[in-house]
Amino acid sequence: AKDVARNGEGELSIDGVPVSELQRQYGTPLFVMSEADFRARARAFKDSFDAAFADICGGVDVYYAGKSFLCTAVVKWVEEEGLRLDTASGGELAVAARAGMPGERVALHGNNKSDAELNRALDMGLGRIVVDSLDELARVGAIAQARGVEAKVMLRLTPGVHAHTHEFIATAHEDQKFGLSMAADTTDEAGVSAAEEAVAAAAAHPGIELLGLHCHIGSQIFEPDGFALAAEKLLRFLAAMQEKYSITLPELDLGGGYGIAYTPVDTPRPAAEIATAMAAVVRSTCAELGIDAPRISIEPGRAIVGSTTFTLYEVGTLKTVRVDAPAASGGDGGNNVTYPRRYVSVDGGMSDNARPVLYDADYSAVLASRTSTAAPQLSRVVGKHCESGDIVVRDVYLPVDVAAGDLLAVPGTGAYCWALSSNYNYLARPGVVAVRDGSARLIVRGETEEDLLSRDMGA
Ligand code: LLP
Repeated sequence: AKDVARNGEGELSIDGVPVSELQRQYGTPLFVMSEADFRARARAFKDSFDAAFADICGGVDVYYAGKSFLCTAVVKWVEEEGLRLDTASGGELAVAARAGMPGERVALHGNNKSDAELNRALDMGLGRIVVDSLDELARVGAIAQARGVEAKVMLRLTPGVHAHTHEFIATAHEDQKFGLSMAADTTDEAGVSAAEEAVAAAAAHPGIELLGLHCHIGSQIFEPDGFALAAEKLLRFLAAMQEKYSITLPELDLGGGYGIAYTPVDTPRPAAEIATAMAAVVRSTCAELGIDAPRISIEPGRAIVGSTTFTLYEVGTLKTVRVDAPAASGGDGGNNVTYPRRYVSVDGGMSDNARPVLYDADYSAVLASRTSTAAPQLSRVVGKHCESGDIVVRDVYLPVDVAAGDLLAVPGTGAYCWALSSNYNYLARPGVVAVRDGSARLIVRGETEEDLLSRDMGA
């Protein structure tokens, strides 16, 4: 976050609040978030996309992807900054409802929504239900019809764009669970794609108001090309469907997936640059097709919240081993050249950040409680779980005098860290603190031992 700096004592502080003060009040591990930074990033998306698309469709609706990090405080900020909310389960809808978010500003996703979740969406008067399959389309239609209402539906399509990211977070290629395929169906005599079948069925269904089309090509993507290509493919399909079925599809959602910098090798583009590149393609494609541009929406999660937060850990056990120097790093690839690597254990780990284990994700770490002029030493920050893969930061240079009791900060943990946290080894999930105008406020409290035991029904 931009408001993280060293104070006079060399201690890391956020918006003027020193980390030692946060530790004293809330303990560690702790997620520390800058509210101002969150609001600024949310606004940057809204403003840049609004500006880039102003002449095309009058602006863009930005749905913050709540799966990346969600609590009622964040819902309130999202709403106050003029954004909407993207949810993916009944639980996320419950958070939106508790925060008082108006239903028409909320979207519901998911490849396997339950009837209860769909009914809840209709109870809340959701602005859009993003339908993922033909099966679900029939179910939504029937439920809405039985209630005498029309469900507002977007259809999620797989445009077949291969995003260059980790396989498990790339989602628009054909061979995966999400979305309606745009490819001609070879088992169908007319070769009608699942996407087209869904458009035809939705347009004809009395329980469905078909708003438009949706796609999401993956996550942690830096280059705008993939988003632009997906936009073009969906616009061509949208134009063809409008023509063939004499309908209007007034909305097009291009999903989320905008990347952030976890380490210096990551090179994300500013929101304005991505918006401009996407707008250029939407503008020219609509002109070529001779159609009015649909209202565009996007669903960024990570790019809004990811960089607003760091995790604060306390250092415990240290040990140093000698490892073979890899040939690539100047060593001789096993010819007796070794170098020291220090294992720096912290009081959390894969239960508060599963991303290194799940996706081989890279992070960095800094000594937060003080500065040190000691020499840098190659270190590996590891957690306290009973698993050797429990790594927080694979390789980082930390001062050689780092010792038990020091505080480390790992930046870039706002997205998909707290959200993916677990109680592995019966560790309590950390709380989340939001700092604003020089004071800290707990927005999600950390778990206690009582919480951990509260669902155990007894021997
Ligand atoms: N819209 C849809 C339909 C999505 O599935 C996602 C993310 C987003 C928007 C938001 O994507 P974002 O802008 O945050 O990249 N756990 C993984 C990421 C999973 C993304 C799931 N869907 C990770 O930690 O990298």
